[in-house]
Amino acid sequence: MASERVHWGSRLGFIMAAAGSAVGLGNLWKFPYVTWSNGGGTFVLVYLVAVLLLGIPIMMAEILVGRRAQRSPVPAFDSLGGKNWTAVGWLGVLAAGVILSYYSVIAGWSLRSFVQCMGWSIHGYHAPSAGSFTAFLADVPTQLGLTVMFSLATAFVVYRGVSGGIERTTQILMPILFLIMIYLGITAATMKGSGHAARMIFTPHLSTFHPRIILEAVGQSFFTLSLGLGAMITYGSYLDKNSSVLKSAASVVVLDTLVALVACFSMFSIIFSVPGMQDKVQGSTVGMLFVTLPGIFYTEMHGGVILAPLFYVLVAFAALTSTISLGEVLVSSFIDAKKWSRRRATAVATGMVFTASILAAVSNGGIEALSTFSVFHDKQGVMATLDYLAANWMLPLGGLGTTLFVGWKLKPEILQEELGLKRPTWLFHAWVWVLRVVAPAAIAAILVAVALGKDFS
Ligand code: PHE
Repeated sequence: MASERVHWGSRLGFIMAAAGSAVGLGNLWKFPYVTWSNGGGTFVLVYLVAVLLLGIPIMMAEILVGRRAQRSPVPAFDSLGGKNWTAVGWLGVLAAGVILSYYSVIAGWSLRSFVQCMGWSIHGYHAPSAGSFTAFLADVPTQLGLTVMFSLATAFVVYRGVSGGIERTTQILMPILFLIMIYLGITAATMKGSGHAARMIFTPHLSTFHPRIILEAVGQSFFTLSLGLGAMITYGSYLDKNSSVLKSAASVVVLDTLVALVACFSMFSIIFSVPGMQDKVQGSTVGMLFVTLPGIFYTEMHGGVILAPLFYVLVAFAALTSTISLGEVLVSSFIDAKKWSRRRATAVATGMVFTASILAAVSNGGIEALSTFSVFHDKQGVMATLDYLAANWMLPLGGLGTTLFVGWKLKPEILQEELGLKRPTWLFHAWVWVLRVVAPAAIAAILVAVALGKDFS
């Protein structure tokens, strides 16, 4: 079986597919709004530390497990470590299902922004009325319709298999997305609010510090890098033996982090430049990508008429290249565990996830009770609760399992061999030490601290 495994055409193919998985709504939608909600600089600092200290080492660990085993996560843990370790794989499968369910709903919002921008590009821009986004979120048929469309698109690509289609698509789309991000960043830098934005993002204020911020930042770093649920194990399993694990992981992390920072900087620059915007944002930080940004293409940018619809198509594609990796984790696990056909596995996974999507889709004003209940401090409604549980608890736990597995269960000789090292370098020792001690201790300490802090309401 292992010998028949398809491989990416090149290391660039892997990098673009893995960056496609990593770069998504986590960068464009979530990072700016969680940064804003957590007061800026302190959060960003902890986030960057988490990316360096946990993100790169764990990304390497996941790619390495996948490439070594040449299998999807559950059988990968099984074949390299035995039955007990498959729990880590299954936790990842559950997390993938949970994330996919609400992620598809938000991805649907980008389709609406695309249509909206097409309208403005053709008929001329007019500022949308206040509250139109809120009304859109509460409109159940529209929410469900967009979610169905997005779920079917994901199912279609996953059903067709990832390597050929995904690799080709991501190699074209990701570079275009990067170019638009650069243009967006440059335009934002010329706006009068850009200094204020940069200060908010890069000046930590220790007074705003709270242990919960660390958990949010760690959760965000896992979420945005697609770590902790086996997506990178799955993609790593299609990586050929000659590609460098370190260089691949580092490239993906750098690209992902740059996109997140540019997205955040651009949005904050707009918020601080346009009068009245700050008040508008306070009401719906969640809608930043969809409410704050669109107008700016038309009022401040050269070529906005073309760029705006193009940008939201790319947001949708960035989301799609992420949902595909989530779907692939589910489907490849079902195929391997149940010996189902790809068609059957895709149908069952899509049905299960969509059932959960319905709850998420009606939880932003559609159904009052599902939108307002709160189990975890400021997280309200099904969508926010699922996001909090998956990103801040399940992914770090999955990451913890992976670091322990690679650090303690796999033999150092295997690690060395996979990294292509004849003899261990100091960097290798440092990496193993991070996986064995630093990362597990850090993740466990944060989870325990927040759990014991009874910080839930
Ligand atoms: N990394 C993706 C994003 O930032 C989300 C994702 C998480 C995808 C986990 C796959 C696995 O949008």
